[in-house]
Amino acid sequence: MSDHLKRRAAEAAAEAELKSGMRVGLGTGSTAKHFVDIVGERMRGGETFLCVPTSEATRRQAEGLGIPLTTLEAIGELDLTVDGADELDDALRLIKGGGAAHLREKMVAFASKRMIVIADQSKHVRMLGAFPLPVEVVPFAHPATARWIEAGFAQLGVAVTTRLRLAKDGDPLVTDNGNLIYDCLSAGFPEPEKAAGMLAAIPGVVEHGLFIGLCSAAYLASDQGVVVLAGRP
Ligand code: A5P
Repeated sequence: MSDHLKRRAAEAAAEAELKSGMRVGLGTGSTAKHFVDIVGERMRGGETFLCVPTSEATRRQAEGLGIPLTTLEAIGELDLTVDGADELDDALRLIKGGGAAHLREKMVAFASKRMIVIADQSKHVRMLGAFPLPVEVVPFAHPATARWIEAGFAQLGVAVTTRLRLAKDGDPLVTDNGNLIYDCLSAGFPEPEKAAGMLAAIPGVVEHGLFIGLCSAAYLASDQGVVVLAGRP
């Protein structure tokens, strides 16, 4: 996705959704980065925001822009969260976690009155799953957890291969929370709700990247403009 489309999606969402005085969750990734820039620009224009970052990378960006930050535990509820996504479908179900931040992203989204996705049209899919589904697991006995994940999918009739995510140096990638990520490769998830329930029931799984019933609207940019998919209020 070209950078100008990411910026365009972020601009459209900010124009429609972001109001001065809001408590705002700041997403993670190359698209959300543009929204964080816009929050900084609007602050320099005189507006006020209090924000919660969804990753250490976003925290560093926001601090660099002088955006006032707080914590989820201190603030409790947020008015708005704007974040990217790896995939979304017509029902505004998402796959997130390509940047390994989906645990904090989901907690922040859950605490928000509205959770908005910004992306380019190519992230909008008929069925979730072409993008490998990230699952954050505790390090203890993680190969066993991976086997349970594969077995759980097999029981749902979905063939899945798990792949431990590696960092650039070739070591296992460690999340901001000190955990590991298994990416689930499949031909797609025809029933994401069942997959989400199955994953949530596996001991050792901290959080999976399926976001169901959390997204309020998606701003999808293409060269033809920005299309808004609306979901829950
Ligand atoms: C971070 O873990 C992810 O959920 C990102 O929000 C997602 O990967 C989208 O990132 P990009 O905007 O960089 O595609």
